[in-house]
Amino acid sequence: MAQKKPTLHFVITAGGTREYLDPVRYISNASSGRMGYALAHAALKAGHKVTLITAPTALTPPRGADVVSVVSAADMAAAVKKYFNRCDGLIMAAAVADYTPVEKAKVKTKKEKGLLTLRLEPTEDILAWAGRHKKKQFVIGFALEDCDLKANAEKKLYSKNADMIIANTPAAIGGDSSCVYLKTPHTGWTKLQDKKDRLAKLIIRSVVGLI
Ligand code: CTP
Repeated sequence: MAQKKPTLHFVITAGGTREYLDPVRYISNASSGRMGYALAHAALKAGHKVTLITAPTALTPPRGADVVSVVSAADMAAAVKKYFNRCDGLIMAAAVADYTPVEKAKVKTKKEKGLLTLRLEPTEDILAWAGRHKKKQFVIGFALEDCDLKANAEKKLYSKNADMIIANTPAAIGGDSSCVYLKTPHTGWTKLQDKKDRLAKLIIRSVVGLI
């Protein structure tokens, strides 16, 4: 009889982080969080434990997930670091802001005449941190590319020392369906195209097969 795989603990990040300039204004991106939430749902349905680290979204987290709500890239980095040691797999589906304002005003900034220049500093690359610190954990990154999809995604796979990269295009943002390409350091590209919930199920299935 085939051995049943033990329950795994996935840490899944989702949503677009917000980098506040002042109490009411922020820099963010167009991520809806749907892929991350669909992955969390699929992992739970397959019987696994899920810690969902989520930036603000309009979505309801799947029942059964341990939800950690964060706002900025720095908050998300701290939450991932807190849960990483105890997980079997990290899926970085979040759209983490690459830059954050150097100055964060404590009160709403007043409008002035003329140009406004913002100074931004790089955020920590959470996926690369996980790639450097992993022991037994399987680390999965997403790569959103609008040109040279496979070549650019492959660079991220190796430079961030991930165990799998899932490449897609900006066409995936906000939509119901998506087309993604999966690659590990040991295998070629696999194309998957489906509704996001079905796609999530296929991704979880292939990840579980590799852990
Ligand atoms: N990522 C991360 N921390 C960041 C930025 C990105 O962990 N500060 C993760 C994302 O969650 C994703 C992967 O890195 O899993 C690739 O993100 P992407 O935005 O496609 O690429 P970047 O590394 O940000 O590079 P670029 O924007 O130049 O394509």
